[in-house]
Amino acid sequence: MTAILGISAFYHDAAAALVVDGDIVAAAQEERFTRKKHDPDFPQHAIEYCLAEAGLQPEELDYVGFYDKPFLKFERLLETYLAFAPAGFPSFLRAVPVWLKQKLHLRRELRQGLHNAYQKRFVFTEHHESHAASAFFPSPFDEAAILTIDGVGEWATASYGTGRGNRIELSHELHFPHSPGLLYSAFTYFCGFRVNSGEYKLMGLAPYGEPKYVDLILDKLIDLKADGSFRMDMRYFNYCQGLTMTSRRFDRLFGGPPRKPESPLTEREMDIAASIQRVTEEIMLRMARHVHDETGLQNLCLAGGCALNCVANGRILREGPFADLWIQPAAGDAGGALGTALFIWYQLLGNERTSNAADAQHASYLGPRPAEAEIKSFLDEVGATYRHFESEDELCDHVAALIADEKVVGWMHGRMEFGPRALGARSILGDARSTEMQSVMNRKIKFRESFRPFAPSVLEERVHELFDMKPQQPSPYMLLVAPVQASRRRQLSDDDTQRTGTDKLKTIRSDVPAITHVDFSARVQTVDAGRHDRYYKLLKSFERQTGSPVIINTSFNVRGEPIVCTPQHAYRCFMATNMDVLVLERFVLLKEQQPNAEEHKVDAYLEQFQLD
Ligand SMILES: [Fe+2]
Repeated sequence: MTAILGISAFYHDAAAALVVDGDIVAAAQEERFTRKKHDPDFPQHAIEYCLAEAGLQPEELDYVGFYDKPFLKFERLLETYLAFAPAGFPSFLRAVPVWLKQKLHLRRELRQGLHNAYQKRFVFTEHHESHAASAFFPSPFDEAAILTIDGVGEWATASYGTGRGNRIELSHELHFPHSPGLLYSAFTYFCGFRVNSGEYKLMGLAPYGEPKYVDLILDKLIDLKADGSFRMDMRYFNYCQGLTMTSRRFDRLFGGPPRKPESPLTEREMDIAASIQRVTEEIMLRMARHVHDETGLQNLCLAGGCALNCVANGRILREGPFADLWIQPAAGDAGGALGTALFIWYQLLGNERTSNAADAQHASYLGPRPAEAEIKSFLDEVGATYRHFESEDELCDHVAALIADEKVVGWMHGRMEFGPRALGARSILGDARSTEMQSVMNRKIKFRESFRPFAPSVLEERVHELFDMKPQQPSPYMLLVAPVQASRRRQLSDDDTQRTGTDKLKTIRSDVPAITHVDFSARVQTVDAGRHDRYYKLLKSFERQTGSPVIINTSFNVRGEPIVCTPQHAYRCFMATNMDVLVLERFVLLKEQQPNAEEHKVDAYLEQFQLD
């Protein structure tokens, strides 16, 4: 037996992954255990979980991999600061002590983290190599082109190459400071959202605006080449030398200073969001076309933070040259932990790889699963009122009926998802046909901005009735955005078409309005019997009872909170919010029956989490 632990840490989204004889046995992000969103610290808890899942001790590990090369990264920081001295001095002074204390002594940190029990070697893969490995090795392809796009690793900000059998090879790189991820993050910052976290909000905001600034961005900010590579005019940006992303020159170009976080959103931010989203799609499409021309391959694997831009992914699939696309569900830096472990198994150790028609990601259900006995004793301890179902079919029928009755249901079953999306293991569910759900869930359950859209889970066999997806293209990881079919859309009135900004939300656009975004798009998760197990049964039951194959699926958390991991987290979130129902494996709790429901204060609960 060969056991390989992969670790990513110290930047954002620390995580651990365990690969045993080539099989992905466990993977989890540290934030889920520490309850600090995007927690970058050494993933002590995630490592302990991975080892426990396989019944291993640290000394039984054969290899430990780390997802990037800290010395190369340090060199990049030093060179950047020197190039921008003396302007870069304040941020230099802030960064260096952390590096001297922690990152340059990574081997020691890693050893201590493994309780000094692991005495074999550490392998350091390059950042984009880790992303590329996470994209190709679990994919269903024997050979594929690989494209990785993110903010920055050591020097690379994007890379491409090929994967064949048990080997990947990256042949080209785009280098810092010219970065698709940092470009998007600069606009995220400028629109008043948090960098490395609010990028999703910017993407969600884009359909409210007009892409008025596309030409301005292409004229002034970046020089975009036909192959998708570009150079940025760094006079407009401040991330090399300062503590902000954009410069005053940038402010002048976009008519004033950045939006203050939490202040009202104006048309300017919506138009800016629409514009940078359009430019990013253009960059990613050009990159995809170029990689296709260069490699001549029919399949594409994607990873890196930008691969979470599911609107761009949807366009690559619909408009791009590739026949098939696979995206690593943990496309951000958490997935680097998995990438480095798989790289060691295949590329360093030369083990044979046979691809499988689904993929090797196990539905990304790679996290902890609570035992029913544990749930029961916890529920008894807190005095909860619950009903336990012996039969899974009866459970699914019961819960599906509650969803059809427009109840909001917290749903926890099986192993937690690896990656930022909830995929039906730690989800909040609702009826997509409801005209109220979008607003109710944003305001009363998740306490987040009203403009944010919700995503659908749909039975894979019926996806084409609702969404314009390529035939035979599943989307089990919710990483593709597709248009709602014309036949499901409603005729809009004059009043409807005249609405602007967030007023657009008032328009009922389709017969599944809760998951139809203002531009008629939806971020689709297809659900199938092979991958999704009990979640599939739930959707099947909902379909039997209502005729509808689709429900709302949003992550089980409130704004700023990491997705729940344990029954305790789920119960606390259920009790503090206006959620109606909680399902923990086969235990069902109704809010109205809970004796101590009034004691839970929503404000106190929300205060624990920093706004994201
Ligand atoms: Fe990355």
